[in-house]
Amino acid sequence: MTSTPRRRQAPRRPLARSRIGARQLATLLGEWDSAEPVYAALSDRIRLLLSDGRLATHTRLPAERELAEELGRSRTTIVAAYRALRESGHLISMRGSGSVLVLPRALPGRSALEVDFARSVPAPVAGLDEIVRAVADRAPTVLEHSGFDLVGQQRLRESIAARYTEHGARTGPDQILITLGAQNAIALTARTVLRHGDRVLIETPTYPHAYEALRNAGGRLVSTPVTTTGWEIDHLVSAIERVRPELIYLIPDFHNPTGSSMNAEQRERVIASARRNGALVLIDETTADLDIDRPDSPPTFPSLTTTRDADTLVSVGSLSKTIWGGLRVGWIRAEPAMISRLITRRPADDLGTPVIEQLIATRVLECYDLLLTRRADQLRAGRDLLVSLLRTSLPDWRIPDVHGGLALWVELGAPLSSALASACQPRGVRITAGPRFGIDGARERFIRVPFTAGADHLERGVRILREAWESLDPVPTPGTQTPPHPML
Ligand SMILES: Cc1ncc(COP(=O)(O)O)c(C=O)c1O
Repeated sequence: MTSTPRRRQAPRRPLARSRIGARQLATLLGEWDSAEPVYAALSDRIRLLLSDGRLATHTRLPAERELAEELGRSRTTIVAAYRALRESGHLISMRGSGSVLVLPRALPGRSALEVDFARSVPAPVAGLDEIVRAVADRAPTVLEHSGFDLVGQQRLRESIAARYTEHGARTGPDQILITLGAQNAIALTARTVLRHGDRVLIETPTYPHAYEALRNAGGRLVSTPVTTTGWEIDHLVSAIERVRPELIYLIPDFHNPTGSSMNAEQRERVIASARRNGALVLIDETTADLDIDRPDSPPTFPSLTTTRDADTLVSVGSLSKTIWGGLRVGWIRAEPAMISRLITRRPADDLGTPVIEQLIATRVLECYDLLLTRRADQLRAGRDLLVSLLRTSLPDWRIPDVHGGLALWVELGAPLSSALASACQPRGVRITAGPRFGIDGARERFIRVPFTAGADHLERGVRILREAWESLDPVPTPGTQTPPHPML
């Protein structure tokens, strides 16, 4: 009997499944070179794109010379950046196959994904299962019809309008359009109102998929700062006067990622300035009901309360954070004329919202305040635990006080956010580095840590964050030729 030779373990093969050209990569990199040394800034930015999914694994990067030409940098810089990526386990280069992006292997004893801090997605609110069951019992009647619609079910639009009216902003159902979550609402509004090259003022940092949608719709983005202590409102108002944007996108309640909320006076100033300059304000209220300990109800935008100038403002909201991300029901509140424009524009991209989900949403709104209390209890427990874990384990980090929302925007004290996110990966934690939330490539001193996970995950996640933080080299000094975090 002949024995079959024992198969040697196959080496990891960097099979390229796609490739990216130098020009396309340069566009994705955006403003990447604000940090020193330049090769480290480039490798950090490529890791960031890989970790947040904008670059897929198994993508072949452009040849070094090609990228050097496109970025206007020396080939040595690109070679050093690729070397740093290889050393951190993010790139495999083979003669004849080029350089292919991969995710670093998990460290021994670690699973690939133990804690996902990259998404701030809360669990379904307690009680949603009963509502879903009750609606499922009615499914046979839904099946008699098409089961989706472009505008939204009358009862659901009435309930949402009634909530706005209760909060002081008189609203009729003809001012509400039901969408597939808030992302769909933002993208639809952007495509409806923007023309190529229109100026759009946005906060930085901000919710990344909003700025992507605004940019995809042709918007030319200009940013105004917001921090954990709020908006520099003079800066914001003077930016409106100077830039004269066609659209201003704001998250005024429990802003993602900083957690800040605008007060009534700030809202008045923004709206007054927008009105003077003919700008439309797109208010994202997705996080507005994620109130943990705000004593009073949120301030209302003045344009919402008066019919005069009401066309200065479009608001979008959603049940995805308060109730469940899987319930793809959101809405747009605007003047009836704007709602008609949106309805006309919509079918090119989607044909409407499923009626079953709208029936669930209608039931949800019948007991919304109770469900919000439950959500607040859950978020309070998460926030309190995360704040205390971080303050104890990483005392040099600056942990903000937040009163609502889903995450903490933590200041690290060193520009190491991308390096930290990379160091977390082989340890089983996915986390989004600060630059992902800005359009200008900055925010390397910040990282967003969500408190939506359960206690076990928060504890494990913070333990791994600390371990990853301790594995990093100190801040790189300009001109150093060694990658800043070679052990990754
Ligand atoms: C500020 C903000 N707006 C909109 C969205 C998208 O919400 P939805 O899941 O309803 O599409 C998110 C999701 O994270 C968000 O944080």
